[in-house]
Amino acid sequence: MRALARLALATVLVAAPIAAVTLAPTANAAEDPTPITVLTSNFEDGTVQGWAGRSAETLAHTTTVAHGGTGSLAVTGRTAAWQGPSLDVLDVFEKGTAYTISAWVRMASGSDNARLSVERRTGGTAAYDQVVGNTAVTANGWVNLTGRYTLASDVEFLRVYVETASTTESFYIDDVTASYVPALPIQTDIPSVQDVVTEFPVGASITGAEIVTTHGELLTKHFNSVTPGNALKWDATEPTENTFTYAQADPLMAFARTHDLAVRGHTLVWHNQTPSWVFTGADGQPMTATAEDKELLLARLENHIRNVAGHYGDQIGVWDVVNEVIDENQSDGLRRSNWFNVAGLDYIRTAFRVAREVLPNAKLYINDYNTNVPAKRDKLYNLIAQLKAEGVPIDGVGHQVHINVSWPTLAESEAMIQKFIPLGIDQQVTEMDVSIYTSNSESFPTPPADRLLKQAYVYRDMFALFRKYAAEITSVTLWGLADDNTWLDTFPVTRKDAPLLFDTRLQAKSAYWGVVDPSKINPSPSPSVSSASPSPSVSVSPSASVSPSVSVSPSVSVSPSASVSPSPSSGTAGCAVTYRVTGSWPGGFQGDVKITNTGTAPIAGWSLNWQYTAGQKISQLWNGALTQSGTAVTVANTSWNGTLSPNGSASFGFLGSWTGTNPVPAAFTLNGATCTTL
Ligand code: XIL
Repeated sequence: MRALARLALATVLVAAPIAAVTLAPTANAAEDPTPITVLTSNFEDGTVQGWAGRSAETLAHTTTVAHGGTGSLAVTGRTAAWQGPSLDVLDVFEKGTAYTISAWVRMASGSDNARLSVERRTGGTAAYDQVVGNTAVTANGWVNLTGRYTLASDVEFLRVYVETASTTESFYIDDVTASYVPALPIQTDIPSVQDVVTEFPVGASITGAEIVTTHGELLTKHFNSVTPGNALKWDATEPTENTFTYAQADPLMAFARTHDLAVRGHTLVWHNQTPSWVFTGADGQPMTATAEDKELLLARLENHIRNVAGHYGDQIGVWDVVNEVIDENQSDGLRRSNWFNVAGLDYIRTAFRVAREVLPNAKLYINDYNTNVPAKRDKLYNLIAQLKAEGVPIDGVGHQVHINVSWPTLAESEAMIQKFIPLGIDQQVTEMDVSIYTSNSESFPTPPADRLLKQAYVYRDMFALFRKYAAEITSVTLWGLADDNTWLDTFPVTRKDAPLLFDTRLQAKSAYWGVVDPSKINPSPSPSVSSASPSPSVSVSPSASVSPSVSVSPSVSVSPSASVSPSPSSGTAGCAVTYRVTGSWPGGFQGDVKITNTGTAPIAGWSLNWQYTAGQKISQLWNGALTQSGTAVTVANTSWNGTLSPNGSASFGFLGSWTGTNPVPAAFTLNGATCTTL
């Protein structure tokens, strides 16, 4: 059966041979962001193309409906919602590679929610990873499910499958694909964040995907602290009562030990990601505020903390004991969670008491978001003050700092830190990210240059602020490693966000330079975008000024016009140019260019020329000074990237418009000499 499935699978790997997945990308392939497709199931050949049911349901090729072409796959005879079509991808997916999986789904009749998932087994134990969550599907049309998946562990069984949430109605799938963009090597010639920001540990939240291959290299180069993003939450550690599992957390903890990374434990008590059994009474009913239910709930809480906190002991030096307990809209400021509704404030008291008993040396935190919002900040302050007065062992307050490119102001963030100083507790930034979006209605196919620039200034200003308050701030953690894996891709709405220091291909963004060396942020990329430079609300204002020691220097205001002028030098001359279209949508595109000095003489000042042959027009350009006259484009260096030592390189990026076609320019000249095109 298995051999047959494998055989059939081979026939569906139409777009790229399996071998392509296992070969290391060549230098050119590494520069090429074109996705490589590793499987396609289009059901155009009259077969089920290797798909099989998860149980006894029936799979058949059909021409009743089709998304593309004339065929699709029909799934009938389902007796449970979890039943559906599945495909063996054990020999297709490589550990550590991020795949984009896409499937089209349509109900035969009625409606339901469809999900795209992966089942994997290690040592006979199954785990289920959701790739795309519940998505409404009807019989009226095809609905696309697209999500990203990275296999992070060794497995002996790996299948992609589609299921529904509630009904056993028949459905169809069609045009299933999986592809990946080859990873680029990490940049080893840039400063490590942890070497630049030395006042406190700097961390990233991690999942299994962040500790393998290139991601693991990026993580250990830049960060000296980690927070398991989901692996220590209640649903991951105690999915059923008194059955504790550390399958998700153990590999992350082992990685942290091997690489000597501090670990923040997140989180012992939360209203989310907590299984419903926790709040179900002995009578099988949802708990209410009775003495009996309260006693049972607090007993469960104590048992959970003794086990989970006790399991890793001193390996975890800081715990978010309770998470998001404040609701500033309540007059008492306390979130009406199941915890609170059943146990009142005693759940918080119990959690800290037990955590302290189990871990006398750990720092115990109360963690929350929007602590920069005065109403929330003040309610949180009041709660901590009250609990501390009672003797509840709270050591620190965690500021999540989920912010965006235009909110909040630096002054509000400074007030957030100042507020808690009188309490005499530590403060940590626990989940920082800076969304490129300023409202839920925005959605960009690729991050616009002006937002990335604003973001760089936010990171610059926020890190300067944290460093200024290093006496209070004892750790800063970002909620993710790189833009290829961020919770903001699906929260609060589904759209691509880019909130971290490294881009989807793990390369340093301007945001990174904002943290590491703000003088390398280009404050006015070209005249055409000068109006899009950071708004006053995110720049360093005099009222919230940073101390000189944190080096937000005026040198960042040097304009591109102060460029290094070309000067003659000895040695051979030579250049190579890589021109990439990194994103494209109807009418618009984003690109970047890398110039490398392949000669033996340094280049002091450069000017790069090319011709556009299809009417393309650059509208914004950063890290260079643009002149476009008709089809002729000239980009000169800025003040900080004019000198190219032998083997040295400079890069700039741009946004442009196109119609019809968007061919890559055929030739480039640097200071008048023709370059090799890579
Ligand atoms: C998020 C995770 O990153 C997601 O993978 C998960 O689906 C939802 O939770 N505040 C918190 C974190 O305290 O635990 C949340 O993490 C993000 C918001």
